[in-house]
Amino acid sequence: MPELYLFPYSRVCFFCPMQSQSTPFPDLAQLRADTPGCYDHLFMNSAGASLMPTPVVSAMMAYLQQETQLGGYEVERLRSDQIGRFYDETARLLNTKPGHIAYAYSATHACNQVLSAIPFRPGDTILTTTNDYVSNQLAFLSIQQRLGIRLLRINDLPNGDLDLTHLDELIRTHRPVLVAITHIPTNSGLVLPAEDVGKLCRQHNVWYLLDAAQSVGQLPLDVAQIQPDFLIATGRKFLRGPRNTGFLYISDRVLEAGLAPLCIDRRAAGWTTPDTFTLQPNARRFEPQEISLLSVGLAEAIRYANDVSLEAITQQNQRLMHRLRAGLQQIDGLVLLDRGSQQSNLLTFHTPRQSLATLDAALRRERIIFTVQNAASALIDFQRKGIDWLIRLSPHYFNTLDEMNAVVDALDRSVH
Ligand SMILES: Cc1ncc(COP(=O)(O)O)c(C=O)c1O
Repeated sequence: MPELYLFPYSRVCFFCPMQSQSTPFPDLAQLRADTPGCYDHLFMNSAGASLMPTPVVSAMMAYLQQETQLGGYEVERLRSDQIGRFYDETARLLNTKPGHIAYAYSATHACNQVLSAIPFRPGDTILTTTNDYVSNQLAFLSIQQRLGIRLLRINDLPNGDLDLTHLDELIRTHRPVLVAITHIPTNSGLVLPAEDVGKLCRQHNVWYLLDAAQSVGQLPLDVAQIQPDFLIATGRKFLRGPRNTGFLYISDRVLEAGLAPLCIDRRAAGWTTPDTFTLQPNARRFEPQEISLLSVGLAEAIRYANDVSLEAITQQNQRLMHRLRAGLQQIDGLVLLDRGSQQSNLLTFHTPRQSLATLDAALRRERIIFTVQNAASALIDFQRKGIDWLIRLSPHYFNTLDEMNAVVDALDRSVH
């Protein structure tokens, strides 16, 4: 029997969003019953693409089924209220208003929309970190090549944390147009101080882009506290939504400054005279035209996370990670790579004891689902750690402590 924890909150039942608020908060068995995939494997890949809960899949299947009868446009018309709930749930998730939320096809799509909205000029500076997500780094480098901007990286402290004093100095010296950080990098458990960066950006009036692709669904995100101008996120990871989904938060400052993506989709603006257009007054000016069952699936995943509550998710995740890290630390020859004073649900390790191929095969025989990363996914971090591959484990709240023990045992067998 898995060890079960009752969450200390009273919320709605996950099977039925319409049920009353007085329904007791479901226990872990309930959450696992919504997650059929968790019985067959030791699922440790929520940082890659997590397991969608049953209500997410059901919502998408009902939508798709209806499309086979009525076609996509008619279904969109009939379900406009359901589609609109995406904005409400996402605003609830981030502690903001629906008008600050835009749908995106992925976090990278959201990032590119943001970057195209900022009118960079030659000589402008972007500040980023050594841990920013690979696609973001590629986009910055591409802008650097095309527009002649300067790309500078903030130093890390010896323990891996971001050096906020260096950030302050860089802002004062270079007056950057944009500070862009990744809240939790794809390649390590590190959590960057999003709120502290927000304070500095506000103090110096610099645009602030926060990539929350790995933190959304894992940690509470309050944009009133963090104060980003742009927050980008993906659906398929700790939010447990479908692939090919994401969203953006856009601040009042951005809207008031009139920023909008360079290339505008028809949902984002009205074509008012043959030679002019009028932007949507809210964040939807960043949206694409095409929406589908995926946006309904994403909305349902966000509702599910909101109903579980991010505070409860974080508490359960801390218990899991404590057990997992403590167990893996005992394994001789296993090198845990995560640094920084605050760590998340991504755990990365390497071992000189086995080749990647041998370890990979052994862990798959143990029915563990995990991610292998190579240097190209985080070049700077891999170089300084002196490795060319790592394995990433990323449990989530539907996992059990027994599963953490099982993963530790499996790794102990596989490394020796
Ligand atoms: C930190 C981070 N940012 C952005 C992304 C990209 O997300 P998407 O595939 O939705 O563009 C990822 C994906 O792994 C990520 O880990």
